[in-house]
Amino acid sequence: MDVTNLLGIAVEAARAVGPRLRKAFRSRPDVATKLDFHDPVTEHDHAAEEIIRAVITSHLPESAIVGEEGGSTGSGDLVWYVDPIDGTANFATGLPFFCVSVAAAVRGELVAGVVYDPVREDEFSASTEGAWCNGAPLRSVGASTDREAMLLTSYPTALDMELDMDAALRRYGRFLKSFSAVRRPGSAALKLAYVAAGWSDAAYGTKANPWDVAAGALLVRQAGGVYLGDPLAKGDYLAYVGGFDLDHSALAEVAPR
Ligand code: IPD
Ligand code: CA
Ligand code: CA
Repeated sequence: MDVTNLLGIAVEAARAVGPRLRKAFRSRPDVATKLDFHDPVTEHDHAAEEIIRAVITSHLPESAIVGEEGGSTGSGDLVWYVDPIDGTANFATGLPFFCVSVAAAVRGELVAGVVYDPVREDEFSASTEGAWCNGAPLRSVGASTDREAMLLTSYPTALDMELDMDAALRRYGRFLKSFSAVRRPGSAALKLAYVAAGWSDAAYGTKANPWDVAAGALLVRQAGGVYLGDPLAKGDYLAYVGGFDLDHSALAEVAPR
């Protein structure tokens, strides 16, 4: 399987939902909830995933697909990880920080991925051959110390607070004191794309799913940054630009091994 072809299919699939998401953005679509009221979903999440699945299977009907809304379908060496809207809470209310994330793995190795921001029309793409933003090569470079760095994180989430509120708030306090700035923009995939581009310096998240982080992890790694954690299993992740000093960072204590 040629990685350039796989990347082309991922890009085509992600871009196919751009017009629909742009049209629906800021229309205040109805919101349903999944696990709990922190976990919103709209008709556009479902419709976008169906469009993405149709593009993928029109090219490669033998694909297995793991999608946030449609679950796991098919089986085989080639597995696609699809998040039709990452950052649904932002999309549903009207904050322009959400994206479409599509990644392909062959026998458990990530080989291609795209994170597409339909509002800014930024297309972050990566394969085993490199990483690009709108066709230009990406380099994940930025701050080397916390004092100069911008950290993007949704930590602590409501679930983190439920599990251990005091420890989570103390840890968050250490991040706030140590970093130049800490921001909670939402959308794990777009945060990782920003670290890959060197538009932010680090991203940290807990209990992420493969569809949230698979494409972003490949972007960070192929752009010369560091991604810690297993992007193809549910779990925590930490990503940072190349040259960042993790050993002396407040993030060292949360680095997945
Ligand atoms: C969520 C976003 C959010 C992250 C959650 C994800 P969704 O994805 O990426 O920033 O903190 O863990 O589930 O539900 O908007 O696709
Ligand atoms: Ca997601
Ligand atoms: Ca989603």
